[in-house]
Amino acid sequence: MRTSYCGLVSETLLGQTVTLVGWAHRRRDHGGVIFIDLRDREGLVQVVCDPDRPDMFKVAEGVRNEFCLKIVGKVRERPAGTTNANITSGKVEVLCHEIEVLNPSVTPPFQLDEENLSETTRLTHRVLDLRRPQMQRNLMLRYRVAMEVRKFLDANGFIDIETPMLTKSTPEGARDYLVPSRVHDGMFFALPQSPQLFKQLLMVAGFDRYYQITKCFRDEDLRADRQPEFTQIDIETSFLTEEEIRTMFEGMIRSTFEHAIGVKLPAFPVMKYADAMRLYGSDKPDLRVKLQFTELTDAMKDVEFKVFSGPANSADGRVVALRVPGGGEMSRGEIDAYTEFVKIYGAKGLAWIKVNDTAKGREGLQSPIVKNLHDKAIAEILARTGAVNGDLIFFGADKAKVANDAIGALRIKIGHSEFGKARGLLQGQWEPLWVIDFPMFEHDDEAQRWNAVHHPFTSPKDGHEDWLETDPGKCIAKAYDVVLNGIELGGGSVRIHREEVQSKVFRALKIGAEEAQLKFGFLLDALKYGAPPHGGIAIGLDRFVMLMTGAESLRDVIAFPKTQRAQDLLTNAPSPVDERQLRELHIRLRNPMPAA
Ligand code: AMO
Ligand code: AMP
Repeated sequence: MRTSYCGLVSETLLGQTVTLVGWAHRRRDHGGVIFIDLRDREGLVQVVCDPDRPDMFKVAEGVRNEFCLKIVGKVRERPAGTTNANITSGKVEVLCHEIEVLNPSVTPPFQLDEENLSETTRLTHRVLDLRRPQMQRNLMLRYRVAMEVRKFLDANGFIDIETPMLTKSTPEGARDYLVPSRVHDGMFFALPQSPQLFKQLLMVAGFDRYYQITKCFRDEDLRADRQPEFTQIDIETSFLTEEEIRTMFEGMIRSTFEHAIGVKLPAFPVMKYADAMRLYGSDKPDLRVKLQFTELTDAMKDVEFKVFSGPANSADGRVVALRVPGGGEMSRGEIDAYTEFVKIYGAKGLAWIKVNDTAKGREGLQSPIVKNLHDKAIAEILARTGAVNGDLIFFGADKAKVANDAIGALRIKIGHSEFGKARGLLQGQWEPLWVIDFPMFEHDDEAQRWNAVHHPFTSPKDGHEDWLETDPGKCIAKAYDVVLNGIELGGGSVRIHREEVQSKVFRALKIGAEEAQLKFGFLLDALKYGAPPHGGIAIGLDRFVMLMTGAESLRDVIAFPKTQRAQDLLTNAPSPVDERQLRELHIRLRNPMPAA
């Protein structure tokens, strides 16, 4: 039907007759001459319809936005002064000889180039939304990324093996999506939260290097970077050490960045979890922001100020400072706004000190709290933060988790603010890193039990097995996350390949022998047959592409995503089903839908 994509028409075709198909992006009537921007997935080209071909012109007059058209015409240079350097076809236009309406369109509910469309509008009319050039680019890049990943993995001997969607629950820490069994009354499949257990079984089965680009399902609270149904680049390999695994997949990420978007990422620094928490209050620090925490817990134990001494003397408390160079110029209004902001993270307040003149001692400090701090504490604050005149120091004092979350979020907020950008607090376009040496377990104080930080199949560091029973909090895992610009791109670990260690971990998690057998018997059994040392990683494909495109939400890189409330507005799912279907599935609703 066509000789070229619209968006690829360029000077190389000058003087040639081309046949193009696409959609009328915009139609402009310039008193006698009609311009149609014809669009396809590769971009736009300007089509000029002159009245000296009356049959063609009559059709052009009837064209409206989003009509599907076929045109035949001659490529010529645009008149001087009308070129557009932003698009491939920007120096040329097509003089229309013939035009055919392949299919008209009703008036679209919005203009495709309208900005600030609501999420609801976009997702309800997703087909039209997907026609937008940005969305076309995003999804084509997504394809390119997946291809580059496949090429890399193929070249390194990884083979793609599918694993089931109807399966048993794998504990990745979210709720399961359940599928009732018709054949087995009262029984349910779970959709996989990840292929974790199957990929381990494939290692025991001897496949050595596996990958899959596959859907995972997690019923969890949604955010901009979380979808209930998302895609993992899921990988497992036998006989590689923790470090070898990291090297290999750092290579994969760098190769994909380079080939998909032409970006050469720097080598990834490696940071221990404990250091990430100490310096940034986060296990996924955004290293573009050049601000760090200063530890003050030990220095605030004996101050009069209860807000500080309380957490400083409590086992799970933390007092930290965040020095903001040049922050002295912030107004009270700005400080108050940040105080409100940290409350989102559970902080009860946001103490601060403006360092006006260090030579004047406490007189040189402007602050609501210095009156409650003794000289030694103030000296420690200034020395440890390295504050100089003109700086502002913020403080977080609370349970460690609250102080970390609040001041960690404040760090990002200030770094990305206009102030932060102007002051050079935000630097570098791409800041990847590995975070390693995660603890095996975190304590759930409410439930009085230990939970796996990664998942329960993660191996402890060599020599840490003994603490599984005596002091689980001390166990470090052979686990790693890859972080890019403050977003967790992927995570993985070396797995337990010995049945007795796996059983110990289950015991530490208070999963009894019987329950372990019931839930994971197939894994424990497999581990008995000479299971090889193995490990792997899963990279979130959606997040990968979101970062590359600069999109703010995963919804901009997924063709048919769910809303924040886990709904599909296009097809209106989830939706009620009829009584007959429910009966077949042996299900009676607790709160039946009101009759329509
Ligand atoms: P994990 O749970 O860390 O590890 O998931 C790996 C990566 O998947 C992405 N991801 C998500 N993306 C979008 N929406 C979500 N709801 C969502 N949840 C996770 C993230 C994350 O880093 N089986 C292990 C991997 C392994 O040990 O090999 C796992 O699933 O980018
Ligand atoms: P208050 O004595 O409660 O009026 O607090 C004095 C200062 O400490 C105010 O600037 C508060 O914003 C701040 N503040 C209160 N609670 C905390 C906290 N948990 N962490 C940091 N600063 C706090």
